[in-house]
Amino acid sequence: MRGDLERVLFDEPAINRRLDELAEQISNDYRDRDLTVIAVLNGSMMFMADLLRRIPLPLKLDCLSVASYHGKTQGSGEVIFKQVALPDVIDRDILILDDILDSGHTLAAIREKLETAKPRSIRVCVLLSKKKKRAQQIVADYLGFEIEDEFVVGFGLDFMEGYRNLPCIGVLRKELMARASR
Ligand code: IMP
Ligand code: MG
Repeated sequence: MRGDLERVLFDEPAINRRLDELAEQISNDYRDRDLTVIAVLNGSMMFMADLLRRIPLPLKLDCLSVASYHGKTQGSGEVIFKQVALPDVIDRDILILDDILDSGHTLAAIREKLETAKPRSIRVCVLLSKKKKRAQQIVADYLGFEIEDEFVVGFGLDFMEGYRNLPCIGVLRKELMARASR
C-alpha cells in the first residue's frame, strides 16, 4: 500500500505530535463546557479515534454520515445526509470533526444543518485543509495541517474507498489515479 504513494506528506510520528498539540488546545478551550463532538464519517474515523482519546474531558460523541464524493476525486457539490435524525445538541457546544477541508461544500452543509438543532456554539476541526479558493467560505477553528491542492490518501482518507487504513498520509502515484478513473 505504501508503495502506491508518490510521496509521504505526514508519517505516524508527525501525525501523533500534531494530534497531541490539537488535543491540548481543544481540552483547554472546552474545559467546563458541555462539549458534543460530531464526527463526519467515514473519512474522520482514524482522526476521531486518535484525537478524542487524547482529550480528557467528559464529552459526548455522535457521528454523521454524508456522501459528497461519488467514487472519483472531484466533489460534485451535492451533499447527501445518510440519516435523518440530528443529535440532541440544544445548548451544547458542538465541535465538528472532519478529515479534510477541500471545496467546503461538505462542512458548510453540515454546519447549516446542525444550526437548526439550536446548539450554543459550533466550531470546526479538520485534520487537513487544502490551500485553495473555496466554493464555500468555511474556516477551520482547529487545523492539523495545511496542504497544497492535491489529492491525498491514508489515515482515514480514501481513494475509491481504498487506503483508509494506511497509517500515514500521502499523495497517490498519478498512474494509479488515472487508471482507476478510466
Ligand atoms: P469538500 O466538500 O469539497 O470540502 O470535501 C470534503 C470531503 O471530500 C472530505 O470529507 C473527503 O471525504 C473528500 N476529499 C476531499 N479531498 C480529498 C482528498 O484529497 N483525498 C481524499 N478525500 C478527499
Ligand atoms: Mg471520502
